[in-house]
Amino acid sequence: METIETPRKKRALSCIQSTGTPTLGNYLGALRNWVMLQDEFECAYAVADLHAITVRQEPAKLRQQINETFALLLAIGLDPEKSLLFVQSQVPEHAQLSWLLSCHTQFGELSRMTQFKDKSAKHADNINAGLFTYPVLMAADILLYQPDVVPVGADQKQHCELTRDIATRFNNLYANTFTIPEPYIMKTGARVCSLQEPTKKMSKSDENQNAFISLKDDPDTIMRKFRRAVTDSEAKVRYAEGKDGVNNLMEIYSAVTGKTLEAIEDEFTGKGYGDFKTAVGEAVALELKPIQERFTELMKDKAQLEALMKSGAEKASYVAGRTLGKAMKKLGFVILR
Ligand code: TRP
Repeated sequence: METIETPRKKRALSCIQSTGTPTLGNYLGALRNWVMLQDEFECAYAVADLHAITVRQEPAKLRQQINETFALLLAIGLDPEKSLLFVQSQVPEHAQLSWLLSCHTQFGELSRMTQFKDKSAKHADNINAGLFTYPVLMAADILLYQPDVVPVGADQKQHCELTRDIATRFNNLYANTFTIPEPYIMKTGARVCSLQEPTKKMSKSDENQNAFISLKDDPDTIMRKFRRAVTDSEAKVRYAEGKDGVNNLMEIYSAVTGKTLEAIEDEFTGKGYGDFKTAVGEAVALELKPIQERFTELMKDKAQLEALMKSGAEKASYVAGRTLGKAMKKLGFVILR
């Protein structure tokens, strides 16, 4: 029971899009931290599937990816007993609050979002209204759960700032309704780059399959991709400017094994890149093995997966419903009991 001596844990919320299998970069940079945050914070984590349809999706594939992303969250060690785990589209309050917030967001604000500018340049044939209002839905995702912090990568910082602006505006117009959340840019997260163009972030949408490690890649594929990773002609494992490929592999190895960069340099003194790449590949394959085993188990039992989604959605809807009800009441809507 909560007492004065045990103040409530701070709340954290984050979501992952259900487009494609997350990469090693998503895992080391973000997802692995989500697992650790479970002890320090009261966490809510969701599969952001509504966000996925801002670009055209194939229905059967979308369904598969929603199931897989949810299973993956469980497989990496997120615990439904500790954290709120759910699928966004299964909690209708997200779409509802999104409308209320969109009427409190300016066209100019959304026009300035760099992700919108990038994505509309990339999908010039489908610049739909959803792509434009994407950050409002994200604000709803966040504000419904009244979190203190939002663990995100640096690329989502601008959306978090907008969320704060919308929430502050709403609070000022109608009295306090929403907690103003802080973006929580994870310090411990590794920035993992492409194995083929190591100045670019590792991305699951890269056309070159060798550029990224998917969390579903089997050990042989992992070894092959690391063997093909771009390095340099110095043939010396050391962390230095201009050695982006080697630096990236060192960072990955460090993130997975916990070894420092200096320890890694020592370990490979007098050895070539071949040995080093093999060691990195083996360490990654070993790290992913238990996750992949749990994932396979979870995907075999659709009934259990759905049951977990259902209980997550019910709990989420309870929390979200309270915030939505509060916001609607403040706005002047007639609330039926
Ligand atoms: N836009 C985020 C991304 O692409 C995903 C996301 C959706 C999210 N809703 C969110 C992240 C709420 C944090 C909080 O990574």
